[in-house]
Amino acid sequence: MASPLRFDGRVVLVTGAGGGLGRAYALAFAERGASVVVNDLGGDFRGVGKGSSAADKVVEEIRSKGGKAVANYDSVEAGEKVVKTALDAFGRIDVVVNNAGILRDGSFARISDEDWDIIHRVHLRGSFQVTRAAWDHMKKQKFGRIIMTTSASGIYGNFGQANYSAAKLGLLGLSNTIALEGKKSNIHCNTIAPTAGSRMTQTVMPEDLLETLKPDYVAPLVLWLCHESCEENGGLFEVGGGWIGKLRWERSLGAIVRQKNQPMTPEGVKANWKKICDFENATKPQRIQESIGSIIGVLSKIDSDGGVSTNHMSHAASTAPSGFARAIGYKFPPFSSAYTELETIMYALGVGASVKEPKDMKFIYEGSSDFSCLPTFGVIVAQKPLVGGGLGGVPELPISLEKVLHGEQYLELYKPLPRSGNLKCEAVIADVLDKGSGLVILMDVYSYFEKELICYNQFSLFLVGSGGIGGKRTSDKVKEAVAVPNRPPDAVLTDVTSLNQAALYRLSGDWNPLHIDPNFSSFAGFDKPILHGLCTFGFSARHVLQKFADNDASRFKAIKVRFSKPVYPGQTIKTEMWKEGNRIHFQTKIHETGDIVISNAYVDLVPASGISAKTSSAHEELQSTLVFEEIGRRLGDIGREVVKKVDAVFEWHITKGGNTAAKWTIDLKNGSGKVYQGPAVGSADTTFTLSDEDFMEVVLGKLDPQKAFFSGRLKARGNILLSQKLQMILKDYAKL
Ligand code: NAI
Repeated sequence: MASPLRFDGRVVLVTGAGGGLGRAYALAFAERGASVVVNDLGGDFRGVGKGSSAADKVVEEIRSKGGKAVANYDSVEAGEKVVKTALDAFGRIDVVVNNAGILRDGSFARISDEDWDIIHRVHLRGSFQVTRAAWDHMKKQKFGRIIMTTSASGIYGNFGQANYSAAKLGLLGLSNTIALEGKKSNIHCNTIAPTAGSRMTQTVMPEDLLETLKPDYVAPLVLWLCHESCEENGGLFEVGGGWIGKLRWERSLGAIVRQKNQPMTPEGVKANWKKICDFENATKPQRIQESIGSIIGVLSKIDSDGGVSTNHMSHAASTAPSGFARAIGYKFPPFSSAYTELETIMYALGVGASVKEPKDMKFIYEGSSDFSCLPTFGVIVAQKPLVGGGLGGVPELPISLEKVLHGEQYLELYKPLPRSGNLKCEAVIADVLDKGSGLVILMDVYSYFEKELICYNQFSLFLVGSGGIGGKRTSDKVKEAVAVPNRPPDAVLTDVTSLNQAALYRLSGDWNPLHIDPNFSSFAGFDKPILHGLCTFGFSARHVLQKFADNDASRFKAIKVRFSKPVYPGQTIKTEMWKEGNRIHFQTKIHETGDIVISNAYVDLVPASGISAKTSSAHEELQSTLVFEEIGRRLGDIGREVVKKVDAVFEWHITKGGNTAAKWTIDLKNGSGKVYQGPAVGSADTTFTLSDEDFMEVVLGKLDPQKAFFSGRLKARGNILLSQKLQMILKDYAKL
């Protein structure tokens, strides 16, 4: 037999416990070990009068059975005083059962202001006052269980009880929100609509029915909902006579009755009325996001569709067997992604690159001689359709944004990403798969730099709960995830994420409040804001590059990951890696919990030898090569003189297509000066970085180096003042 549910050490406050249902709760809690505060004002069922005997009797009854109880005779409207009795007598408060109540029935038109107000004051305001007085104590101790008492009159309406119905359903709204706000502190709030014989119901129920509907048939539900082992939160239950049922909301699929650039009319509503009220295939929304999310989905649907006035959700379901013919192959409007070093550095910091690690400097300091853009920045340039709401425009798909999960990600680079640039991107729905529990949408994004395809992304998006409508299960378009080898990892790297990690990462373009707003994340069912999956992805990819490619971005070829669990900012990301040839398999865990957050993942690397060939061929095309060689020749004649004037070594990083294509050194410090290819032997006084084209413009006198510096086209590091002297020399050579 299951072990009995005990309440030893718990302090329970039951309001209106001098009789009826409240008395039954108080006795049951006390019998199972709780210390009970028996609150009752002691008036009649209309709330007239007061007295201490009702509460005293129940306290005596409890004590006579060996239980612990104290009485409180205040009205629930004085919530602080009621809760103070618990704190004074027992030192804490664990459970609040808001049960006190009165009736002031009368047909709607005859309800006086007084009868309206007192009903609201006792039921709604009283429950608020008592609960608020207990709230902070519950929060501090990270435990609390609260019951609100509504009524079938509120849920369904009842003749002669307009005031009571309104106040009672108000309690459900109060409970719904408290349940969300309390969740992270382990405070749960549930609502019951009881039916039981009591003095309150004796006027409306026949006597034999009153006898059979005992309050004792309600109390066990209240005890279970208030037990520490009960996870239920935000629920609504009807209970009576030994039966218990749970209630929830249902919403029809509804109809879109508006067309783009057309007024919305009552006639349009009338024409669609049947569909609006049709509960076939109805949804059961549980959270406010589901409500707001589908409305936002409708907006983008109308906007992109030209406003075909149909019920798009049922439309999608009915055309499903045809295999989403209009969705597959759908091309999003082309878009561009422009970025500078600012964005790539912000991204690198967002995925944990740090000055603590000297080898990371190349990703976070634009003056580094080998400054590079992290390869996984390739997802950022492509993410616009996902983060910009474009998904809502895909025809046929029942996309309501709050149900979209990012399931997997593939990224392949054909060239290293330039340090800055404007990429043109094309996105297409490559395929739609029906996995039963949901649909998988494959969205492919191709990004071009100067007309050349530079990277390809495949986003796998999972639409929760939309599957099971007969589509195909697999596709040759899928970039498959691959299981990690069955042996201990070859390498493991860890990084502690900062509490600000998501706040920093979101600056790279994914502004979803789920990652920063505690209210939003708790609505979404998380204890606190979660880290972006693609942020964890960036951390792990960095780990692989660091461990197996010496942080050389040009060695990166492709990455595939599957997201399996969320990470909270502040947790430690641990990447376990296995090397198999040029493929580095990996999985990512949270160090503190051992949970796998990225599974079945790999990075493909370009073999080290493949790189040098690529770099040297780029050299040959540089115009600047001729100039450096010429400067070198001229130095032979006037070198000594120039060395005296300048006395400095200059290093040049010439870029092509955003990447460093050549390095040159002009040594005007030693001997009679020297120009040679490669970084400075010893150290350079000043290092310049600029493109081959800009170098030529500077040399030909078409571009003022100072202006180029301030506009960011020329980067200078080290002793920048020395560049004045160099300008003089370059100008001389311009005359050559
Ligand atoms: P009841 O009249 O036997 O018990 C209510 C108790 O609350 C009384 O002892 C009364 O003195 C006390 N009370 C009234 N005003 C108070 C105040 N301002 N401060 C402190 N105590 C106060 O009624 P019953 O049936 O046990 O009702 C309990 C709760 O269940 C009520 O909230 C009622 O609205 C609700 N309910 C009961 C149903 C039933 O079938 N009995 C149906 C639906 C809801």
